[in-house]
Amino acid sequence: MLVHIGKLINRHMLGKYAVPAFNTQDLETTLGIVRAAQAQKAPIIIQTSVGALEYAGIEELVGLIKTEARQARVPIALHQDHCHDFNLLKKLIDLGYSSVMIDASHLPYKENLKLTKQVVAYAHKRGVWVQAELGRILGNEDWQNVKSGEDLMTDPDQAADFVAQTRIDTLAVAVGSMHGIPIDPRIKKVLTTLREHIDLKRLAAIRQKVKIPLVVHGASGVPDAQLRAAIKFNVAVFNIDTDLRVAFNKALRANLKKNPQIYDPRKLLAPATDALQKVAEHKLKVLKTSNQI
Ligand code: 13P
Repeated sequence: MLVHIGKLINRHMLGKYAVPAFNTQDLETTLGIVRAAQAQKAPIIIQTSVGALEYAGIEELVGLIKTEARQARVPIALHQDHCHDFNLLKKLIDLGYSSVMIDASHLPYKENLKLTKQVVAYAHKRGVWVQAELGRILGNEDWQNVKSGEDLMTDPDQAADFVAQTRIDTLAVAVGSMHGIPIDPRIKKVLTTLREHIDLKRLAAIRQKVKIPLVVHGASGVPDAQLRAAIKFNVAVFNIDTDLRVAFNKALRANLKKNPQIYDPRKLLAPATDALQKVAEHKLKVLKTSNQI
């Protein structure tokens, strides 16, 4: 069933388990995610990026996710990932998103505060949650490419001030994980084996000062043990995209290579959807989301 994000993320689950926010942009990914959630009896968040909405069309993609969510036997919330376009967020709120992320983290602090407050005022009037980001999450995501810097990590004191002033519902923190897959520029090779690192000390310091649920982006590539450990520091949501894409890609490429005679897209795509579902199920077990409904 399609539910408000507040039904999934609450005080009682903090520190015990987390809910993944899986990205989707198409039918196959959506099916794989929803099947994984049903198989694991797990609540999930399905999120769209601006790029995904551009790729599939807003009404088309939202209609697909809502249809799948409504038919599912598990609670599913719809969330908009990184977006700095207030008008687009308004449209998505009207379309039934129960949570949106205003990402003004590329702006100076005061401007980030100002824009975030405007979105919160609009969204809260309509019962919709707002996520915002403080610090800069490394890697590639839609229009952003953040390359490096310890100074880009979330500062605990500033986070406390930001949450108090904006009254956001969830806070995305930059604690070392990164979006997407790093590419080695010398050999132009995708580094799928790189293990990302979450700065647990920083997370602990943030939890001391910030009481709302935290969100860790770029959870792909982070070792399972680190994801588990981060739950204890009030990380309620982990954003996961790349690991699903990699699994889908690998299976699709292998199938194409093995079966060059197949031309029915369904036969090519189904094994890739299955592979994606397996990875999604694994994440649900790691985050202890399985059997939480
Ligand atoms: P990954 O692609 O690294 O899983 O990150 C997804 C994400 O954080 C989307 O906001």
